Amino acid sequence: MKDGLSANSIYRKDYTVYPWDIDQLDLYFDIGSESTVVRAEMEFHLKGEEKETQDIVLNGSNLQLVSLSLNGHLLSSSDYAISGETLTIPHAPRKSVLKTEVKVYPAGNSALEGLYLSGAFLLTQCEAQGFRKITWFPDRPDVMTTYRVTMEADRSEFPVLLSNGNQEAAGDLADGRHWVRWQDPFPKPSYLFALVAGDLALVEDNFVTRSGRDVVLRIYVEEENLDRCEHAMESLINAMRWDEERFNLEYDLDIYHIVATNDFNMGAMENKSLNIFNSKYVLARPDAATDADYQGIEGVIGHEYFHNWTGNRVTCRDWFELTLKEGLTVFRDEEFSADMQSRAVKRIRVVRDLRGRQFPEDDGPMSHPIRPDRYVEINNFYTATVYQKGATIIRMYHTLLGEAGFQKGMKLYFERHDGQAVTCDDFLAAMADANGVDLERFGRWYSQSGTPQVHVSDHYDAAAQKYTLTLKQHTPVTHDQQTKQSLVIPFAVGLLNAKGEELPLQLENETDASGSTRLLVLEKAQQEYTFINIAEAPVPSLFRDYSAPVKIFYDYSHAQLATLIAYDSDAYVRWDAAQRMAQDVILEQCRRHANGKEMKVDSSLLRAFRGILSDHQADPALLAEAMILPDEDYLAEQMEVVDVDGIHAARKFIKQGLASDLVALLAERYAELNDGQPYQKTSGDMARRALKNVCLSYLLETSAGESRAIAQLEASDNMTDTLAAINGLILVDSPIADGALSEFETRWREDTLVMDKWFTIQAIKPGPGTLNRVRELMQHPAFSIQNPNKVRALIGVFAMLNPTGFHAADGSGYTFHADRVIELDGLNPQIAARMASAFNRWKRYDDPRKKLMKAQLQRIAAVDNLSGDVSEIVNNALR
Ligand code: PHE
Ligand code: ZN
Repeated sequence: MKDGLSANSIYRKDYTVYPWDIDQLDLYFDIGSESTVVRAEMEFHLKGEEKETQDIVLNGSNLQLVSLSLNGHLLSSSDYAISGETLTIPHAPRKSVLKTEVKVYPAGNSALEGLYLSGAFLLTQCEAQGFRKITWFPDRPDVMTTYRVTMEADRSEFPVLLSNGNQEAAGDLADGRHWVRWQDPFPKPSYLFALVAGDLALVEDNFVTRSGRDVVLRIYVEEENLDRCEHAMESLINAMRWDEERFNLEYDLDIYHIVATNDFNMGAMENKSLNIFNSKYVLARPDAATDADYQGIEGVIGHEYFHNWTGNRVTCRDWFELTLKEGLTVFRDEEFSADMQSRAVKRIRVVRDLRGRQFPEDDGPMSHPIRPDRYVEINNFYTATVYQKGATIIRMYHTLLGEAGFQKGMKLYFERHDGQAVTCDDFLAAMADANGVDLERFGRWYSQSGTPQVHVSDHYDAAAQKYTLTLKQHTPVTHDQQTKQSLVIPFAVGLLNAKGEELPLQLENETDASGSTRLLVLEKAQQEYTFINIAEAPVPSLFRDYSAPVKIFYDYSHAQLATLIAYDSDAYVRWDAAQRMAQDVILEQCRRHANGKEMKVDSSLLRAFRGILSDHQADPALLAEAMILPDEDYLAEQMEVVDVDGIHAARKFIKQGLASDLVALLAERYAELNDGQPYQKTSGDMARRALKNVCLSYLLETSAGESRAIAQLEASDNMTDTLAAINGLILVDSPIADGALSEFETRWREDTLVMDKWFTIQAIKPGPGTLNRVRELMQHPAFSIQNPNKVRALIGVFAMLNPTGFHAADGSGYTFHADRVIELDGLNPQIAARMASAFNRWKRYDDPRKKLMKAQLQRIAAVDNLSGDVSEIVNNALR
């Protein structure tokens, strides 16, 4: 094929068992920042009885080979063959001892995969295929063995030497050097290996498990961050307790380490007993971290901890099965957050995220099922589809089987597969067998990509007092898949009367009415459900709790939406109704704008938002969510051809219209929430801050906002309020915005995480001046193109969260961004590929923009030695 993608693809169907077992891997590291020597020793045992010899195939990348010996014989280059990332030793005897020595260069490793330098310490990142950058090894998740790791290093430069498992021994050496040996008793795949060496400080606590195991908990950070670990530690302890209570799962070692680094490609990594975290998901102090940061830390700490069972004890057979551990673990962390904070608020945020990030992916050039069938670069498949849609599939098991049935399935899954590397089919079989149900059809969710659509129509028969819902499902073809099947779609509904009361539900074939929410299960292309004894035409409350990753189409009138917003018992439905009404109104204004007509504020939207704002019963965080208008990208997804400027103008117009109509109420609510009480970390206080700052953002659309933002900034004792105020002042072009920004800079200049926020609030500002600002900021001493957090905060935010900036009609945003992708590709292909995906939706724009984006994609594709990571993204986009 001409783009070369097919030639480089790896297919799920090509899986073969690794022919060898490996007894134990003994690793020895002579640690240095410039270069580190790695010696490995392992004993291979041939599986099965048939053969006397077999080739040994190993993976390696960027390794400087020093020596290789098999069964005591030094091998010369004619005794083995290296091709690409594989090394083959032909015809090794049934039992073979392999010893290798290589050299690696951590300080020069800007890809942040393998062994690399961050600040003053060394660390590793091995998922998915980073272990091969450390030593020659069968670097695939189904090869599991125990690891014994010995490190030696200069004591003053590297006082802390960590690896997985328990510390077995340590000692001093001559010349101020020392050594430490770790042994991990659990066999593990290479992607869970970790090592950390350097000068780190620590915070310690402990947790006694249900069965009485006393676990030492340590968080390692750079000295100056010692006062920011409390929340992470508390979250870890909560996660350990929660997993015992909800999933009956206990921790299995005496030690649990977390290390925070500023240089990390992703959020965090679940290495056995030695988690490595992006510092963004560890460090928090009220003055330096927002409520969203606190919640993110709780979620990610939980996520990595939960991986110990779902990922580490039971791992993936190969990388196609990634969602086996990720979908399940995201489901677990969502449930953890829901149990810790507000279940309803968490649900809404999860849905917003799924629709905002995963739906476009399913509809774009990188569409893939949650269990892909092929890939070029596995790093490109750590996606919203594998993670967030994967979690929704797990949630559907839970919805269909109930908590007790789901837990029965989990129990059987661990009974069968503890210590193994397995597949999604194994998970499904455990759920099915434990519950005595057939889930074969349900299994289609693993193999089918795309977002199903469910079209709902209804009919009320007044004479017969019957109400019939007709559900039709259909999945549009996707970039990767031409034919689609019907799926199993759980679909919870309720019915409201005109007063907003919930009606008791009785289906035609049932003897009694029971409950006011009914779970329907749509399996065929079309199904009808008739409810009886319905005295008046009801308002359907569709898809309660958002029970499947699908798009629902039903032609709601504004009156019906108003009833749902005001009265529905399901928080998701209330929120969604408000979003829908706002979306309808904004898109309508966008059309008027395009046709040169004057825009108008809709009176039912005003009434609905007035109702939301006057609600003193509901959780303020839910009201805040309801008042946040659908973002520009989400609105863009709803249009045939994206009208970048029209969407921006219409959304702004509606926000202003709402604000000026509701100004008195907004000011009142703001004043009542802005009570001057000192900061607290409670979810109640977070909820009040959320609503307060949403009110402020509306007030800033009127003349009543600026003075309040200034006062809030002066009085603030926490980053949530500070950032909301400054961000607001920037967005409204307040004359004091620049001063506020430079004061912020002066205060936080040395603080890398807070400076990320400072970059972001500037990069996100709509309009033409921002690109130049971003260019200037790239020269700021706190910026570094080598640091992924900085790249995401400045360049990523501009390309992905600033539509009017990125999509400037003259193409300047595109050219700038393509330059960054090319620049990054030479440094860090994973991050470059993430950035390149900003062009993925190019075909949805108007012709001039399409042309401009395509030209940039072609320019990137033509770069010499382009990484597989970026090449897969841009070639898919161009196809
Ligand atoms: N496995 C990590 C997680 O989901 C994510 C990750 C993938 C981190 C690849 C680093 C590299 O928790
Ligand atoms: Zn994960």
